[in-house]
Amino acid sequence: MCGIVGYTGGKQAKSILFEGLRRLEYRGYDSAGICVVSPDGELDCVRAVGNLDNLEKVLEGFDMPGTLGIGHTRWATHGAPTESNAHPHLDCSGDIAIVHNGIIENFTRLRHELSERGHTFKSDTDSETLAHLIEEHYRGDLAEALRKGLSQVEGSFAVVAACRKNPGEIVGARRNSPLVVGIAPGEYYVASAVPAFLSRTRTVLFLDDDEILSIGSEGLKIILMDGSEVQRDSAEVGWDIDSAEKGGYEDFMLKEIFEQKKAVEDTLADKFNSRGEIEMEGLDLSGEEARNLRRIIVVACGTSYHAGILAKFLLEKWGCLPVEIEIASEFHFRDLAVAKGDLVIAISQSGETADTIASVKAARKLGARVTSIVNVVGSQMGRDSDDVIYTHAGPEIGVAATKTFTSQMAVMYPLAMSIGLLRGTVSSEICDSVMKELRSIPSKMENVLDFDGTVREVAGKFQNCPDFLYLGRSFGYPIAMEGALKLKEISYIHAEGYPAGEMKHGPIALLDDGVPVVAIATRDSVYDKMINNIEEVKARKAPVVAVTTVGDTRIADICEAVFEVPETMEVLYPLLTVIPLQLLAYHIAKFKGCNVDQPRNLAKTVTVE
Ligand code: G6P
Repeated sequence: MCGIVGYTGGKQAKSILFEGLRRLEYRGYDSAGICVVSPDGELDCVRAVGNLDNLEKVLEGFDMPGTLGIGHTRWATHGAPTESNAHPHLDCSGDIAIVHNGIIENFTRLRHELSERGHTFKSDTDSETLAHLIEEHYRGDLAEALRKGLSQVEGSFAVVAACRKNPGEIVGARRNSPLVVGIAPGEYYVASAVPAFLSRTRTVLFLDDDEILSIGSEGLKIILMDGSEVQRDSAEVGWDIDSAEKGGYEDFMLKEIFEQKKAVEDTLADKFNSRGEIEMEGLDLSGEEARNLRRIIVVACGTSYHAGILAKFLLEKWGCLPVEIEIASEFHFRDLAVAKGDLVIAISQSGETADTIASVKAARKLGARVTSIVNVVGSQMGRDSDDVIYTHAGPEIGVAATKTFTSQMAVMYPLAMSIGLLRGTVSSEICDSVMKELRSIPSKMENVLDFDGTVREVAGKFQNCPDFLYLGRSFGYPIAMEGALKLKEISYIHAEGYPAGEMKHGPIALLDDGVPVVAIATRDSVYDKMINNIEEVKARKAPVVAVTTVGDTRIADICEAVFEVPETMEVLYPLLTVIPLQLLAYHIAKFKGCNVDQPRNLAKTVTVE
């Protein structure tokens, strides 16, 4: 949550900072601001409430010369989304400006102590504390002041600061919040995520926790909290800038829905060797380790959790061992009975979700092995895990996850199968036939995307319904959950995803002719049971929209609308059935005039618990 940027180089900073913020806007859009160090050594600061369009308007009338600056786009935690709570925050003297992402947990005490020592606070934020702490320790060396200030801080932070007395220097640091440096000839970018500077450089340097970054006339320096210096190599990122542009689409979300074929293809590319055998890049599990596993625990939040439900089903099926699925925000607060012999699989698009990271840390502390499945290279979760398997969906800018969800699910097939093969619980024949069909899925996904127009029509019909119920069984169940989540996230319509068999234990009481039911009813082993459920729904006069297998007239005859997906194996249907539900949510939200890329109150990455 919150996006931060910094720039120092030969170009004018204002537009570079603003462009960087635009690309990070998915991280928060309650307020935004930038600060540029002017050639005569002043800090020019502009802030505005709301999203970046508001800041842009204010900036238009503001000349901000200078080649070094910092910027911020906020998702409010401490303090309402007002201008005074917008970043950058200044110290008392107005010499030091900071931008911060994270939570300073001991800020109440720090603020009290700083106030007693004469500091005056101008905002309600925890972040402002950092500006005052740096001020207290500042004796001409900005990085040193930051280091000393941060030694008093508890909590998580990515912070970037500039000081008018050190006009050529930008400093930063991180702990449990991301901060990455982009390097181009004579220029440095600092940001919460790579897309902020992807149009300018792909050379990046990832900071570790509790490292202080200083970029000045002598180049880049990293110091540790004990004051010693470390060297770090840069790396090249594979993403290209087109993947972070709308590319002619009205919204990022729609573009990302349509990118799913490629995202799944790219994700699967490094899961097989040249002979077509599964070779999971990133997973280093021996046959003996796999056979000795006691159980697997899958942890995740949000959409990633729904990919986790599928993971559980597949791992149980092919790995033949107990698998639990846990919501990360519940998992790490308990007295966990986790031990050596457990494998924890953490799923996260961003690799930054605070609860999932905390779960990873808790599980490793207790002796479990942790494999994380992450989309963002270099993210914290990857670094905290024993193994990292990447989805290669490219940057996802829309707040509601789409292509990263299908990519996460796609990883689960070779992963669960390889664990099964290592344990000797699945045959190579089954593996070959599933993997062969898996490779045909991307082109089948394209067929599903073809009926976007039909989905739009159906969306138009139901756009004013205040409640929706999504039902699915077995492999349809996680998709019902995900379909409902998509609808509520972006259209603000109440929707519940439910295992279809549970409908009779509660949700059926809600049904009448104004509550549409979306049923996942592909031709599979639970098909007849789903038809029974659809009949029960019809008997209560609720309209039914069903996701079916192509050519299924039986369901088409009893439902108000059907979205047909191509035939595939039962286990693989989730990769297809979710697409019409993403489109349905998208079109309903558009009909209602919602901002689908920036749904209210949500953020793409939840870096607070
Ligand atoms: C937020 C996002 C969701 C995402 C969830 C988990 O709620 O809005 O789209 O599924 O976080 O994020 P992660 O990065 O861990 O997958």
